Amino acid sequence: MKLLVTGGAGYVGGVCAQVLLEDGHEVVVVDDLSTGNADGVPTGAKFVEGDIATAGVDLIESESFDGVLHFAAQSLVGESVRQPEKYWHGNVVKTLALLEAIRRTETPRLVFSSTAAVYGEPEQVPITEDSAARPTNPYGASKLAIDHAITSYANAHGLAATSLRYFNVAGAYGGLGENRVVETHLIPLVLQTALGHRETISVFGTDYPTPDGTAVRDYIHIRDLAQAHLLALAQSRPGEHRILNLGSGTGFSVRQVISACEQVTGGPIAAVEAPRRAGDPSVLIASSERAVAELGWQPRHHDLTEIVSDAWGFLRSLGDRAHSARR
Ligand SMILES: NC(=O)c1ccc[n+]([C@@H]2O[C@H](COP(=O)([O-])OP(=O)(O)OC[C@H]3O[C@@H](n4cnc5c(N)ncnc54)[C@H](O)[C@@H]3O)[C@@H](O)[C@H]2O)c1
Repeated sequence: MKLLVTGGAGYVGGVCAQVLLEDGHEVVVVDDLSTGNADGVPTGAKFVEGDIATAGVDLIESESFDGVLHFAAQSLVGESVRQPEKYWHGNVVKTLALLEAIRRTETPRLVFSSTAAVYGEPEQVPITEDSAARPTNPYGASKLAIDHAITSYANAHGLAATSLRYFNVAGAYGGLGENRVVETHLIPLVLQTALGHRETISVFGTDYPTPDGTAVRDYIHIRDLAQAHLLALAQSRPGEHRILNLGSGTGFSVRQVISACEQVTGGPIAAVEAPRRAGDPSVLIASSERAVAELGWQPRHHDLTEIVSDAWGFLRSLGDRAHSARR
């Protein structure tokens, strides 16, 4: 298929674009490089630098795509609380412009990066797709609003759509990994501390009702996540909007993640205890049973040490690349 990948210079979009290419698809990436890097666009994809609402819309209207995979977004929870306008405009308004281009051109398929943040504080874990969606920040609310818009476009206009609600995506694949200017994700932050790029890693909250008192999250390997995109694309049906959680179904605490990072990097990592952050739930674990049942998805990389090792290999390769560029 000929596919448009928005946000393909970012972490998840870049790896998914790589896996789409490996699967034989033709890939065009549109990305404004606001948080991504041109280096993150995989070799073999055509890259157009620009905004989804302008360059993205132009591409959809001038080329004929079999589908759009929409990863581009603002995705910092704290920033969304301080600057909600950036999220309502950058995520919702711009995605509506894309959806309109998709409708006008009758582009048949859409796969959208939704998030566990739509669920807010869960009433029960593991979290299923039938759990109440009550986001606790504008980021999650903006993604939920897009999910609703996609449902109505699928119903009214026959779009074959899938929203994939990711839990914590981690690891690296094909020489691509997490490499953001503003990093907020736990595994790269801990590994950057191990590399000496940060002095300490903060552990927010040590009094949660969890075995070691620190918050528990579900980490899904980026390669497994990318595989689910291939399946979602192939199995989507006109007029249907599927909503599927993607997680490993296993939870690891902040302390367990730090300890896995120490094991992989081979040395102690300085951690400091800090108060809980407002709105951080104690445990977030996905039920991905629906993705397994409906897509035949089979996640293969459950092991936290493997996820951390892959992320570590990628971060070290960045250092090596910078070193060779200086020589
Ligand atoms: N990483 C995770 O753990 C996680 C979890 C849940 C959901 N998600 C969702 O997955 C998607 C990808 O996340 P990521 O971690 O790869 O983020 P990222 O910041 O690495 O990538 C996002 C990419 O989108 C681009 N972009 C942003 N706004 C744009 C615009 N208006 N026009 C063109 N390009 C634009 C950025 O430059 C960047 O390359 C996002 O939609 C995010 O909300 C990610």
